[in-house]
Amino acid sequence: MTTEHIRNFSIIAHIDHGKSTLADRIMGLTGAVSDREAKDQLLDDMDIERERGITIKASAVTMNYTHAGKTYMLNLIDTPGHVDFHYEVSRALSACEGALLVVDATQGVQAQTVANAYLATSVNAELIGVINKVDLPSAQPEITAEEIEHVLGIRKQDCFHISAKSGLGVHELLDAIVTLLPPPPDNSDKPTAALVFDSECDAYRGVICYVRVFSGELRVKQKIRFMGVGRTHLITELGKFTPKMSPVDRLSSGEVGYVIANVRQLSDVTIGDTITDDANPADKPLPGYVPPMQMVFSDFYPGNNTDYPNLRTAFEKLALNDASFSFIPQNSPALGFGFRCGFLGLLHMEIVQERLERENNIDVVQTAPTVSYEVLTTDGKTTKIDSPADLPDVSAIEELREPFVRLEIITTTDTIGGIMQLAESRRCKLIKTDYLSQNRVMMQYKAPLAEIVYDFYDLLKGISHGYATMDYEFTGFEIGDLVKINILVNKIPVDALSLIVHRSVAENRGRKMLVR
Ligand code: GTP
Repeated sequence: MTTEHIRNFSIIAHIDHGKSTLADRIMGLTGAVSDREAKDQLLDDMDIERERGITIKASAVTMNYTHAGKTYMLNLIDTPGHVDFHYEVSRALSACEGALLVVDATQGVQAQTVANAYLATSVNAELIGVINKVDLPSAQPEITAEEIEHVLGIRKQDCFHISAKSGLGVHELLDAIVTLLPPPPDNSDKPTAALVFDSECDAYRGVICYVRVFSGELRVKQKIRFMGVGRTHLITELGKFTPKMSPVDRLSSGEVGYVIANVRQLSDVTIGDTITDDANPADKPLPGYVPPMQMVFSDFYPGNNTDYPNLRTAFEKLALNDASFSFIPQNSPALGFGFRCGFLGLLHMEIVQERLERENNIDVVQTAPTVSYEVLTTDGKTTKIDSPADLPDVSAIEELREPFVRLEIITTTDTIGGIMQLAESRRCKLIKTDYLSQNRVMMQYKAPLAEIVYDFYDLLKGISHGYATMDYEFTGFEIGDLVKINILVNKIPVDALSLIVHRSVAENRGRKMLVR
Protein backbone atom coordinates (compact mmCIF):
# COMPACT_ATOMS: atom_id res chain seq x y z
CA MET A 1 0.00 0.00 0.00
CA THR A 2 1.42 3.45 -0.89
CA THR A 3 0.70 6.47 1.26
CA GLU A 4 -1.84 7.59 -1.40
CA HIS A 5 -4.35 5.34 0.35
CA ILE A 6 -3.67 6.41 3.92
CA ARG A 7 -5.60 9.11 5.80
CA ASN A 8 -4.57 10.08 9.32
CA PHE A 9 -7.13 12.18 11.13
CA SER A 10 -8.39 13.22 14.55
CA ILE A 11 -11.76 14.23 15.87
CA ILE A 12 -11.72 17.42 17.91
CA ALA A 13 -14.65 18.96 19.74
CA HIS A 14 -15.86 20.69 22.82
CA ILE A 15 -16.71 18.27 25.65
CA ASP A 16 -19.92 16.26 25.04
CA HIS A 17 -20.35 17.42 21.45
CA GLY A 18 -20.20 13.79 20.33
CA LYS A 19 -16.60 12.85 19.55
CA SER A 20 -16.71 9.38 21.07
CA THR A 21 -20.12 8.66 19.55
CA LEU A 22 -18.81 9.67 16.13
CA ALA A 23 -15.66 7.57 16.59
CA ASP A 24 -17.82 4.57 17.50
CA ARG A 25 -20.07 5.18 14.52
CA ILE A 26 -17.12 5.39 12.17
CA MET A 27 -15.71 2.15 13.59
CA GLY A 28 -19.11 0.54 13.18
CA LEU A 29 -19.50 1.68 9.55
CA THR A 30 -16.01 0.56 8.58
CA GLY A 31 -16.59 -2.83 10.23
CA ALA A 32 -13.80 -2.36 12.78
CA VAL A 33 -16.30 -3.27 15.49
CA SER A 34 -19.81 -4.66 15.55
CA ASP A 35 -22.65 -2.28 16.31
CA ARG A 36 -23.03 -3.81 19.76
CA GLU A 37 -19.39 -3.28 20.61
CA ALA A 38 -19.60 0.23 19.21
CA LYS A 39 -22.25 1.07 21.78
CA ASP A 40 -19.77 0.50 24.57
CA GLN A 41 -17.61 3.43 23.49
CA LEU A 42 -14.53 1.34 22.94
CA LEU A 43 -12.10 4.22 22.78
CA ASP A 44 -12.82 5.26 26.35
CA ASP A 45 -11.30 2.27 28.05
CA MET A 46 -10.96 3.43 31.62
CA ASP A 47 -13.94 2.98 33.93
CA ILE A 48 -13.71 6.47 35.27
CA GLU A 49 -13.81 7.90 31.77
CA ARG A 50 -16.92 5.97 30.99
CA GLU A 51 -18.67 7.09 34.14
CA ARG A 52 -17.78 10.73 33.78
CA GLY A 53 -18.26 10.64 30.04
CA ILE A 54 -14.86 12.16 29.32
CA THR A 55 -12.00 10.81 27.33
CA ILE A 56 -8.68 11.05 29.12
CA LYS A 57 -6.19 9.15 27.02
CA ALA A 58 -5.83 9.53 23.28
CA SER A 59 -6.23 6.27 21.36
CA ALA A 60 -5.50 5.32 17.78
CA VAL A 61 -7.57 2.99 15.63
CA THR A 62 -6.79 1.65 12.14
CA MET A 63 -9.73 0.90 9.82
CA ASN A 64 -10.32 0.06 6.17
CA TYR A 65 -12.79 2.02 4.06
CA THR A 66 -13.65 1.50 0.41
CA HIS A 67 -14.48 4.52 -1.74
CA ALA A 68 -14.93 4.50 -5.52
CA GLY A 69 -13.46 0.99 -5.75
CA LYS A 70 -10.32 1.81 -3.77
CA THR A 71 -9.61 0.65 -0.25
CA TYR A 72 -8.16 3.24 2.12
CA MET A 73 -6.46 2.81 5.46
CA LEU A 74 -8.00 5.27 7.92
CA ASN A 75 -6.11 5.98 11.13
CA LEU A 76 -8.35 7.69 13.65
CA ILE A 77 -6.61 9.28 16.58
CA ASP A 78 -8.98 10.11 19.39
CA THR A 79 -8.38 13.22 21.48
CA PRO A 80 -9.67 14.51 24.78
CA GLY A 81 -11.61 17.76 24.74
CA HIS A 82 -11.04 19.32 28.13
CA VAL A 83 -8.82 22.32 28.86
CA ASP A 84 -6.46 20.34 31.07
CA PHE A 85 -5.61 17.94 28.30
CA HIS A 86 -4.60 20.41 25.64
CA TYR A 87 -1.19 18.87 25.31
CA GLU A 88 -2.71 15.50 24.41
CA VAL A 89 -4.76 17.16 21.70
CA SER A 90 -1.70 18.79 20.18
CA ARG A 91 0.26 15.52 20.35
CA ALA A 92 -2.49 13.66 18.57
CA LEU A 93 -2.88 16.39 15.98
CA SER A 94 0.79 16.42 15.09
CA ALA A 95 0.42 12.78 14.01
CA CYS A 96 -2.40 13.69 11.56
CA GLU A 97 -2.87 15.47 8.26
CA GLY A 98 -6.44 16.47 9.07
CA ALA A 99 -9.14 16.75 11.70
CA LEU A 100 -12.92 16.65 11.96
CA LEU A 101 -14.06 19.64 13.98
CA VAL A 102 -17.32 18.52 15.57
CA VAL A 103 -19.84 21.07 16.85
CA ASP A 104 -23.10 20.17 18.60
CA ALA A 105 -25.99 21.76 16.66
CA THR A 106 -27.91 22.38 19.88
CA GLN A 107 -24.99 24.15 21.59
CA GLY A 108 -23.12 25.93 18.85
CA VAL A 109 -19.45 26.84 18.90
CA GLN A 110 -18.00 26.62 22.42
CA ALA A 111 -14.76 27.65 24.10
CA GLN A 112 -12.97 24.38 23.47
CA THR A 113 -14.19 24.24 19.87
CA VAL A 114 -12.25 27.43 19.29
CA ALA A 115 -9.19 26.33 21.28
CA ASN A 116 -9.04 22.99 19.47
CA ALA A 117 -9.41 24.63 16.07
CA TYR A 118 -6.49 26.96 16.89
CA LEU A 119 -4.37 23.97 17.91
CA ALA A 120 -5.20 22.12 14.69
CA THR A 121 -4.34 25.14 12.58
CA SER A 122 -1.06 25.59 14.44
CA VAL A 123 0.10 22.11 13.34
CA ASN A 124 -1.22 22.68 9.78
CA ALA A 125 -3.96 20.06 10.02
CA GLU A 126 -6.70 20.42 7.41
CA LEU A 127 -10.11 20.97 9.05
CA ILE A 128 -13.50 19.55 8.06
CA GLY A 129 -16.42 21.27 9.81
CA VAL A 130 -18.98 18.80 11.19
CA ILE A 131 -22.33 19.80 12.69
CA ASN A 132 -23.53 16.97 14.91
CA LYS A 133 -26.81 16.00 16.61
CA VAL A 134 -28.98 17.33 13.76
CA ASP A 135 -31.55 14.66 14.76
CA LEU A 136 -32.47 16.60 17.92
CA PRO A 137 -35.55 18.86 17.73
CA SER A 138 -33.60 21.71 19.34
CA ALA A 139 -30.82 21.50 16.72
CA GLN A 140 -30.00 24.76 14.95
CA PRO A 141 -27.62 23.61 12.21
CA GLU A 142 -27.91 26.82 10.18
CA ILE A 143 -27.01 29.10 13.10
CA THR A 144 -24.21 26.70 14.09
CA ALA A 145 -22.88 26.81 10.53
CA GLU A 146 -22.89 30.63 10.65
CA GLU A 147 -20.94 30.57 13.90
CA ILE A 148 -18.39 28.14 12.47
CA GLU A 149 -17.91 30.39 9.45
CA HIS A 150 -17.74 33.55 11.55
CA VAL A 151 -15.33 32.33 14.23
CA LEU A 152 -13.34 29.61 12.53
CA GLY A 153 -13.36 30.66 8.91
CA ILE A 154 -14.71 27.33 7.57
CA ARG A 155 -17.33 28.14 4.92
CA LYS A 156 -20.82 27.25 6.12
CA GLN A 157 -21.70 25.44 2.91
CA ASP A 158 -18.65 23.19 3.42
CA CYS A 159 -19.84 21.89 6.80
CA PHE A 160 -21.25 18.36 7.05
CA HIS A 161 -24.56 17.90 8.86
CA ILE A 162 -24.65 14.59 10.70
CA SER A 163 -26.12 12.59 13.54
CA ALA A 164 -23.38 10.49 15.06
CA LYS A 165 -26.11 8.72 17.01
CA SER A 166 -28.30 7.60 14.12
CA GLY A 167 -25.50 7.48 11.54
CA LEU A 168 -27.17 10.10 9.30
CA GLY A 169 -24.58 11.73 7.03
CA VAL A 170 -21.65 9.72 8.42
CA HIS A 171 -21.02 7.81 5.15
CA GLU A 172 -20.74 11.13 3.31
CA LEU A 173 -18.31 12.28 5.99
CA LEU A 174 -16.16 9.17 5.49
CA ASP A 175 -16.10 9.90 1.75
CA ALA A 176 -15.01 13.45 2.56
CA ILE A 177 -12.17 12.20 4.77
CA VAL A 178 -10.88 10.25 1.78
CA THR A 179 -11.43 12.95 -0.85
CA LEU A 180 -10.74 16.16 1.09
CA LEU A 181 -7.96 15.31 3.51
CA PRO A 182 -4.45 14.94 2.08
CA PRO A 183 -2.54 11.64 2.27
CA PRO A 184 0.69 11.62 4.28
CA PRO A 185 3.82 12.31 2.20
CA ASP A 186 5.64 9.17 1.02
CA ASN A 187 9.08 9.20 2.64
CA SER A 188 9.68 5.45 2.53
CA ASP A 189 13.16 5.84 0.99
CA LYS A 190 14.43 8.06 3.81
CA PRO A 191 15.90 6.94 7.19
CA THR A 192 13.39 5.88 9.83
CA ALA A 193 11.73 8.64 11.85
CA ALA A 194 8.63 7.85 13.94
CA LEU A 195 6.97 10.23 16.37
CA VAL A 196 5.93 8.89 19.78
CA PHE A 197 2.61 10.67 20.34
CA ASP A 198 1.44 8.74 23.37
CA SER A 199 2.41 5.85 25.61
CA GLU A 200 0.91 3.60 28.22
CA CYS A 201 2.27 1.02 30.59
CA ASP A 202 1.10 -2.58 30.57
CA ALA A 203 1.89 -4.68 33.65
CA TYR A 204 3.11 -7.61 31.50
CA ARG A 205 4.47 -6.11 28.30
CA GLY A 206 6.04 -2.93 29.63
CA VAL A 207 5.64 0.37 27.82
CA ILE A 208 3.51 0.50 24.67
CA CYS A 209 4.44 3.50 22.49
CA TYR A 210 1.85 4.95 20.11
CA VAL A 211 3.73 6.06 17.00
CA ARG A 212 3.26 7.76 13.67
CA VAL A 213 5.93 6.83 11.10
CA PHE A 214 6.99 9.93 9.15
CA SER A 215 9.78 8.35 7.10
CA GLY A 216 11.39 4.96 6.49
CA GLU A 217 9.84 2.03 8.32
CA LEU A 218 9.79 0.12 11.60
CA ARG A 219 10.38 -3.66 11.61
CA VAL A 220 10.16 -6.35 14.26
CA LYS A 221 13.66 -7.13 15.70
CA GLN A 222 14.98 -3.77 14.42
CA LYS A 223 17.43 -2.04 16.74
CA ILE A 224 15.92 1.38 17.33
CA ARG A 225 17.11 4.50 19.09
CA PHE A 226 15.01 7.03 20.96
CA MET A 227 16.75 10.16 19.71
CA GLY A 228 15.83 12.44 22.62
CA VAL A 229 16.79 10.17 25.51
CA GLY A 230 19.53 8.42 23.48
CA ARG A 231 18.64 4.84 24.51
CA THR A 232 18.56 1.87 22.13
CA HIS A 233 16.09 -1.02 22.20
CA LEU A 234 15.11 -4.04 20.10
CA ILE A 235 11.55 -4.02 18.78
CA THR A 236 9.79 -7.11 20.11
CA GLU A 237 6.32 -6.35 18.75
CA LEU A 238 4.77 -3.93 16.28
CA GLY A 239 1.11 -3.57 15.59
CA LYS A 240 -2.03 -1.61 14.89
CA PHE A 241 -5.11 -1.02 16.97
CA THR A 242 -8.03 -2.44 15.00
CA PRO A 243 -9.12 -1.47 17.74
CA LYS A 244 -7.76 -4.58 19.49
CA MET A 245 -3.94 -4.83 19.40
CA SER A 246 -3.13 -6.64 16.14
CA PRO A 247 0.57 -7.44 15.53
CA VAL A 248 2.18 -6.69 12.14
CA ASP A 249 5.73 -7.23 10.80
CA ARG A 250 6.36 -3.64 9.82
CA LEU A 251 4.93 -0.12 9.96
CA SER A 252 5.66 1.95 6.86
CA SER A 253 5.98 5.66 6.16
CA GLY A 254 2.69 7.42 6.88
CA GLU A 255 1.29 4.66 9.11
CA VAL A 256 0.14 4.77 12.72
CA GLY A 257 0.47 1.94 15.25
CA TYR A 258 2.28 0.76 18.35
CA VAL A 259 5.80 -0.32 19.27
CA ILE A 260 6.82 -2.60 22.13
CA ALA A 261 10.57 -2.70 22.74
CA ASN A 262 11.34 -3.84 26.26
CA VAL A 263 10.97 -0.39 27.78
CA ARG A 264 10.06 -0.97 31.41
CA GLN A 265 8.96 2.43 32.71
CA LEU A 266 6.87 5.26 31.30
CA SER A 267 9.53 7.71 32.48
CA ASP A 268 11.99 6.09 30.02
CA VAL A 269 9.90 7.37 27.12
CA THR A 270 9.43 11.03 26.35
CA ILE A 271 6.27 11.87 24.51
CA GLY A 272 7.28 13.76 21.39
CA ASP A 273 10.55 11.80 21.06
CA THR A 274 11.61 10.41 17.68
CA ILE A 275 12.36 6.72 17.11
CA THR A 276 15.01 6.08 14.47
CA ASP A 277 17.05 3.15 13.16
CA ASP A 278 20.18 2.71 15.26
CA ALA A 279 22.37 1.68 12.30
CA ASN A 280 21.01 4.21 9.81
CA PRO A 281 19.65 7.10 11.87
CA ALA A 282 17.75 10.18 10.71
CA ASP A 283 19.83 13.42 10.66
CA LYS A 284 17.63 15.17 13.16
CA PRO A 285 14.60 14.39 15.28
CA LEU A 286 11.07 15.32 14.18
CA PRO A 287 9.81 18.58 15.62
CA GLY A 288 8.48 17.68 19.08
CA TYR A 289 5.65 19.52 20.65
CA VAL A 290 5.20 21.56 23.79
CA PRO A 291 5.59 19.20 26.75
CA PRO A 292 2.72 19.01 29.22
CA MET A 293 3.08 21.73 31.80
CA GLN A 294 2.04 21.23 35.38
CA MET A 295 0.07 24.27 36.41
CA VAL A 296 -1.74 23.31 39.58
CA PHE A 297 -0.25 21.98 42.81
CA SER A 298 -1.74 20.67 46.00
CA ASP A 299 -0.58 18.73 49.09
CA PHE A 300 -2.15 15.40 49.96
CA TYR A 301 -1.84 14.03 53.49
CA PRO A 302 -3.28 10.68 54.66
CA GLY A 303 -6.25 11.21 57.00
CA ASN A 304 -4.67 8.53 59.17
CA ASN A 305 -0.85 8.65 59.50
CA THR A 306 -0.47 4.88 59.25
CA ASP A 307 -1.81 5.16 55.68
CA TYR A 308 1.32 6.98 54.48
CA PRO A 309 2.97 3.91 52.84
CA ASN A 310 -0.34 3.03 51.17
CA LEU A 311 -0.66 6.56 49.83
CA ARG A 312 2.84 6.33 48.36
CA THR A 313 2.05 2.99 46.69
CA ALA A 314 -1.18 4.43 45.30
CA PHE A 315 0.63 7.47 43.84
CA GLU A 316 3.34 5.26 42.34
CA LYS A 317 0.63 3.21 40.64
CA LEU A 318 -1.09 6.33 39.30
CA ALA A 319 2.15 7.88 38.01
CA LEU A 320 2.94 4.67 36.13
CA ASN A 321 0.20 5.46 33.64
CA ASP A 322 0.10 9.21 33.83
CA ALA A 323 3.39 10.90 33.02
CA SER A 324 1.92 14.36 33.63
CA PHE A 325 1.23 13.66 37.30
CA SER A 326 4.03 14.03 39.86
CA PHE A 327 4.40 13.66 43.63
CA ILE A 328 7.18 14.44 46.07
CA PRO A 329 7.31 13.71 49.80
CA GLN A 330 6.36 16.57 52.09
CA ASN A 331 6.49 16.93 55.85
CA SER A 332 4.30 19.34 57.78
CA PRO A 333 4.47 19.75 61.56
CA ALA A 334 0.69 20.10 61.67
CA LEU A 335 -0.38 17.54 59.10
CA GLY A 336 2.43 14.97 59.29
CA PHE A 337 3.90 13.16 56.30
CA GLY A 338 2.30 13.65 52.90
CA PHE A 339 3.03 14.52 49.28
CA ARG A 340 3.08 17.63 47.15
CA CYS A 341 1.42 16.73 43.86
CA GLY A 342 1.55 18.45 40.48
CA PHE A 343 -1.29 18.44 37.94
CA LEU A 344 -2.07 19.91 34.53
CA GLY A 345 -5.16 21.63 35.85
CA LEU A 346 -8.14 21.29 38.15
CA LEU A 347 -9.91 18.51 36.27
CA HIS A 348 -6.72 16.48 36.20
CA MET A 349 -6.47 16.94 39.96
CA GLU A 350 -10.07 15.87 40.48
CA ILE A 351 -9.52 12.73 38.43
CA VAL A 352 -6.44 11.73 40.43
CA GLN A 353 -8.30 12.44 43.67
CA GLU A 354 -11.20 10.27 42.62
CA ARG A 355 -8.98 7.39 41.53
CA LEU A 356 -7.21 7.56 44.85
CA GLU A 357 -10.41 7.25 46.81
CA ARG A 358 -12.11 4.77 44.55
CA GLU A 359 -9.28 2.40 43.73
CA ASN A 360 -7.34 2.60 46.96
CA ASN A 361 -9.87 3.49 49.58
CA ILE A 362 -7.56 6.00 51.27
CA ASP A 363 -8.96 8.95 53.13
CA VAL A 364 -6.89 12.08 52.34
CA VAL A 365 -6.62 15.67 53.55
CA GLN A 366 -5.92 18.03 50.70
CA THR A 367 -4.66 21.63 50.74
CA ALA A 368 -6.07 24.45 48.56
CA PRO A 369 -4.70 24.27 45.00
CA THR A 370 -1.95 26.73 44.08
CA VAL A 371 -0.04 27.56 40.88
CA SER A 372 3.70 27.76 40.22
CA TYR A 373 5.58 31.08 40.48
CA GLU A 374 8.85 32.36 39.13
CA VAL A 375 11.20 34.06 41.58
CA LEU A 376 14.12 36.28 40.67
CA THR A 377 16.37 36.49 43.71
CA THR A 378 18.85 39.23 44.54
CA ASP A 379 21.70 36.93 43.45
CA GLY A 380 20.33 37.13 39.90
CA LYS A 381 18.97 33.55 39.80
CA THR A 382 15.50 32.66 38.50
CA THR A 383 13.76 29.66 40.07
CA LYS A 384 10.30 28.13 39.77
CA ILE A 385 8.50 27.41 43.00
CA ASP A 386 5.49 25.15 43.27
CA SER A 387 4.82 25.64 46.93
CA PRO A 388 4.39 28.86 48.94
CA ALA A 389 6.58 27.21 51.58
CA ASP A 390 9.54 27.37 49.17
CA LEU A 391 9.33 31.13 48.77
CA PRO A 392 12.62 32.71 49.91
CA ASP A 393 12.66 35.48 52.49
CA VAL A 394 11.26 38.79 51.10
CA SER A 395 14.66 40.45 51.53
CA ALA A 396 16.13 38.01 48.97
CA ILE A 397 13.37 38.52 46.37
CA GLU A 398 13.97 40.88 43.49
CA GLU A 399 10.89 39.95 41.48
CA LEU A 400 8.00 37.54 42.00
CA ARG A 401 6.21 36.53 38.79
CA GLU A 402 2.90 34.74 38.38
CA PRO A 403 1.52 32.75 35.43
CA PHE A 404 -0.90 34.48 33.05
CA VAL A 405 -3.30 32.91 30.56
CA ARG A 406 -5.42 33.98 27.61
CA LEU A 407 -8.93 33.16 28.75
CA GLU A 408 -11.81 32.67 26.34
CA ILE A 409 -15.38 32.63 27.57
CA ILE A 410 -18.37 31.96 25.37
CA THR A 411 -21.74 32.87 26.84
CA THR A 412 -25.20 34.22 26.16
CA THR A 413 -25.51 38.02 25.81
CA ASP A 414 -27.83 38.38 28.83
CA THR A 415 -25.08 37.14 31.18
CA ILE A 416 -22.28 39.42 29.95
CA GLY A 417 -22.69 41.90 32.85
CA GLY A 418 -22.39 39.28 35.59
CA ILE A 419 -19.43 37.64 33.94
CA MET A 420 -17.62 40.95 33.49
CA GLN A 421 -18.09 41.66 37.18
CA LEU A 422 -16.68 38.28 38.12
CA ALA A 423 -13.73 38.68 35.76
CA GLU A 424 -12.90 42.14 37.06
CA SER A 425 -13.01 40.95 40.65
CA ARG A 426 -10.38 38.38 39.65
CA ARG A 427 -7.94 40.86 38.10
CA CYS A 428 -8.83 39.77 34.53
CA LYS A 429 -8.42 42.34 31.74
CA LEU A 430 -10.86 42.28 28.84
CA ILE A 431 -9.04 42.09 25.50
CA LYS A 432 -11.97 41.80 23.12
CA THR A 433 -15.60 40.86 22.71
CA ASP A 434 -16.82 39.12 19.59
CA TYR A 435 -20.49 38.39 18.78
CA LEU A 436 -20.90 34.84 17.43
CA SER A 437 -24.58 35.31 16.67
CA GLN A 438 -27.42 37.51 17.83
CA ASN A 439 -27.45 36.18 21.39
CA ARG A 440 -24.05 34.59 21.91
CA VAL A 441 -20.76 36.25 22.54
CA MET A 442 -17.09 35.32 22.93
CA MET A 443 -15.06 37.34 25.46
CA GLN A 444 -11.31 37.19 25.57
CA TYR A 445 -9.41 38.10 28.75
CA LYS A 446 -5.89 38.28 29.99
CA ALA A 447 -6.10 36.53 33.35
CA PRO A 448 -3.82 35.52 36.23
CA LEU A 449 -4.03 31.71 36.41
CA ALA A 450 -4.10 31.74 40.22
CA GLU A 451 -7.43 33.59 40.10
CA ILE A 452 -9.12 31.11 37.81
CA VAL A 453 -7.91 27.79 39.22
CA TYR A 454 -9.61 28.62 42.46
CA ASP A 455 -13.43 28.60 42.05
CA PHE A 456 -13.82 30.69 38.91
CA TYR A 457 -15.33 27.95 36.77
CA ASP A 458 -18.06 27.12 39.29
CA LEU A 459 -18.97 30.80 39.68
CA LEU A 460 -19.01 31.25 35.90
CA LYS A 461 -21.40 28.33 35.54
CA GLY A 462 -23.60 29.77 38.31
CA ILE A 463 -23.81 33.24 36.77
CA SER A 464 -24.57 31.90 33.31
CA HIS A 465 -27.05 29.23 34.48
CA GLY A 466 -24.68 26.61 33.13
CA TYR A 467 -24.40 28.07 29.64
CA ALA A 468 -20.95 29.66 29.64
CA THR A 469 -17.90 27.67 28.61
CA MET A 470 -14.29 28.66 29.11
CA ASP A 471 -10.86 27.66 27.98
CA TYR A 472 -7.43 29.06 28.73
CA GLU A 473 -3.95 28.93 27.36
CA PHE A 474 -0.79 29.76 29.27
CA THR A 475 0.91 32.86 27.84
CA GLY A 476 3.79 33.54 30.26
CA PHE A 477 4.99 34.69 33.66
CA GLU A 478 4.62 38.37 34.64
CA ILE A 479 5.62 40.42 37.65
CA GLY A 480 2.85 40.80 40.21
CA ASP A 481 2.39 42.59 43.51
CA LEU A 482 2.21 39.31 45.37
CA VAL A 483 2.42 38.53 49.05
CA LYS A 484 2.57 35.38 51.13
CA ILE A 485 -0.11 34.70 53.74
CA ASN A 486 1.04 32.66 56.71
CA ILE A 487 -1.55 30.89 58.82
CA LEU A 488 -0.55 30.28 62.43
CA VAL A 489 -1.98 27.44 64.45
CA ASN A 490 -1.16 27.80 68.15
CA LYS A 491 1.17 30.65 67.18
CA ILE A 492 3.20 28.36 64.90
CA PRO A 493 3.09 28.99 61.12
CA VAL A 494 1.78 25.97 59.19
CA ASP A 495 3.57 25.84 55.85
CA ALA A 496 0.97 23.59 54.28
CA LEU A 497 -1.67 26.28 54.80
CA SER A 498 0.35 29.23 53.49
CA LEU A 499 -0.75 30.95 50.30
CA ILE A 500 0.70 33.36 47.74
CA VAL A 501 -1.89 35.94 46.65
CA HIS A 502 -2.14 39.38 45.13
CA ARG A 503 -1.78 42.15 47.74
CA SER A 504 -5.19 43.60 46.84
CA VAL A 505 -7.05 40.45 47.90
CA ALA A 506 -4.71 39.18 50.63
CA GLU A 507 -6.74 40.20 53.66
CA ASN A 508 -10.02 39.01 52.25
CA ARG A 509 -8.61 35.64 51.16
CA GLY A 510 -6.86 35.08 54.48
CA ARG A 511 -9.98 35.82 56.51
CA LYS A 512 -12.10 33.60 54.30
CA MET A 513 -9.73 30.72 54.83
CA LEU A 514 -9.88 31.06 58.61
CA VAL A 515 -13.67 31.15 58.69
CA ARG A 516 -14.01 27.99 56.63
P1 GTP B 1 -16.12 13.68 25.81
O1 GTP B 1 -15.44 12.37 25.54
O2 GTP B 1 -16.63 13.79 27.20
O3 GTP B 1 -15.35 14.87 25.36
O4 GTP B 1 -17.48 13.71 25.01
P2 GTP B 1 -17.71 13.42 23.52
O5 GTP B 1 -17.50 14.64 22.73
O6 GTP B 1 -16.96 12.19 23.15
O7 GTP B 1 -19.25 13.16 23.52
P3 GTP B 1 -20.03 11.79 23.49
O8 GTP B 1 -19.78 11.07 22.22
O9 GTP B 1 -19.77 11.08 24.77
O10 GTP B 1 -21.52 12.34 23.43
C1 GTP B 1 -22.09 13.13 24.44
C2 GTP B 1 -23.58 12.84 24.54
O11 GTP B 1 -24.22 13.25 23.31
C3 GTP B 1 -23.90 11.35 24.68
O12 GTP B 1 -24.99 11.24 25.56
C4 GTP B 1 -24.29 10.93 23.28
O13 GTP B 1 -25.18 9.85 23.26
C5 GTP B 1 -24.94 12.18 22.73
N1 GTP B 1 -24.81 12.27 21.26
C6 GTP B 1 -23.69 12.22 20.52
N2 GTP B 1 -23.98 12.36 19.21
C7 GTP B 1 -25.31 12.51 19.12
C8 GTP B 1 -26.24 12.71 18.03
O14 GTP B 1 -25.87 12.77 16.85
N3 GTP B 1 -27.54 12.86 18.36
C9 GTP B 1 -28.00 12.79 19.62
N4 GTP B 1 -29.31 12.94 19.83
N5 GTP B 1 -27.17 12.62 20.67
C10 GTP B 1 -25.86 12.46 20.43
